[in-house]
Amino acid sequence: TWTPTAFVDTTVAVLQEQLGNDKVVLGLSGGVDSTVAAILLNKAIGNNLYCIFVNNGLLRKNEFESVLHQYKDMGLNVKGVDASERFLEALKNESDPERKRKAIGKAFIEVFDDEAHQVKDVDWLAQGTIYPDVIESVSVNGPSVTIKSHHNVGGLPDFMKLKIVEPLRMLFKDEVRRVGKEMGIDPELLGRHPFPGPGLAIRILGDITAEKVRILQEVDAIFINGLKKWNLYDKVWQAGAILLPVNSVGVMGDERTYEKVVALRAVESTDGMTADWVNLPYEFLQEVSNHIINRVKGVNRVVYDISSKPPATIEWE
Ligand code: XMP
Repeated sequence: TWTPTAFVDTTVAVLQEQLGNDKVVLGLSGGVDSTVAAILLNKAIGNNLYCIFVNNGLLRKNEFESVLHQYKDMGLNVKGVDASERFLEALKNESDPERKRKAIGKAFIEVFDDEAHQVKDVDWLAQGTIYPDVIESVSVNGPSVTIKSHHNVGGLPDFMKLKIVEPLRMLFKDEVRRVGKEMGIDPELLGRHPFPGPGLAIRILGDITAEKVRILQEVDAIFINGLKKWNLYDKVWQAGAILLPVNSVGVMGDERTYEKVVALRAVESTDGMTADWVNLPYEFLQEVSNHIINRVKGVNRVVYDISSKPPATIEWE
C-alpha cells in the first residue's frame, strides 16, 4: 500500500540518484504542488535546487511577502522576483480574457527565463506537475505542464530546453497534501484554496490598473479573512472576489456616489470541473458586505454569485 512516508523515502533516493550534483531550477507559485515538489527536491539535493518565486503583482494582498518569508523559513534556496510593474505594463489596455492570459503567460516566461539564466550550469527544470495535469495535457506541449500551450509564444525559451524532473507526476492532489504533511509543511499552506495562475487579472473584468488591483486585493482579503474567522474557509473549495466593470449609484451622507460593484464567489467542488455555489450564512454575508463597503474606498455595492457550474464557470472570465 502507498504511504506518504515510503513515498518520501523512495523519491528522495531516486532523485539523488537521478540528479547527483546537478543544478535544478523550479518556479514556486505559492500553491500546494510547487511547494511540495520543492521541499521534496530540497530534501534530496539541498541548495542545488534554485527556486524562483515571481510576483506578478496579481496575487492576493501581502501574499508575495508572506509566502516568500514562509519559503525561506522552510529552508528553501529561493529568490523572490518582484515583476509587478512588468506584468502591469504587459496588461495595459487589455480587456480580452484570453489576451490577458497570453500576456501574463508571456511575461512570466520572459521573467522566468531571465532568472533561470542567472543560475550557472543548470541542467534541470523541476515542475510540480501532478497526475491530473499529466492526463489533461498529453499532446499539448510535451511534459511541460505548468506552462500551458497558450502561454507558449514563438520559439522555446531556454529553460524549456532543460531536462524535466516532476517528482509528483504519479500523485493525486490528496496524496500531494499527505506527502506535504509528512514533510512538515504548514497545514494552512497545504489547505489553501486553488488560485488561478493569471491571478486577479481574470477577476478584474475589463482593463487592469494598479488602482483596480489594490481595490480587489482589499475586498478579497476581507472576504477570505472573514471565511477563516467564521470557520467557513475549509468548507469551501474556492472563493474570491470579482471587480465588475460597472459603477452603480449609492448614497453617502447627503452625497450621491457612483462607484464600483464587487461580486463575491464561493464554490464547492472536487476538481473544478463542476461546482455548486455555497450557501453561506446571511449573517456572514452581511458582516463581510458591511466591512467591504465601509473600508474599501471606491466600492459601494456587494453582490453574491449564486450560479453553479455548469453553465456558469467558476471564474467570470
Ligand atoms: P473555470 O472558471 O473554468 O475554472 O470554471 C476552473 C478552475 O480553473 C481555474 N482557472 C485557471 N487556472 N489559469 C489557471 O491556472 C487560468 O487561466 C485559469 N482559469 C481558470 C479556476 O480558478 C478554477 O479553480
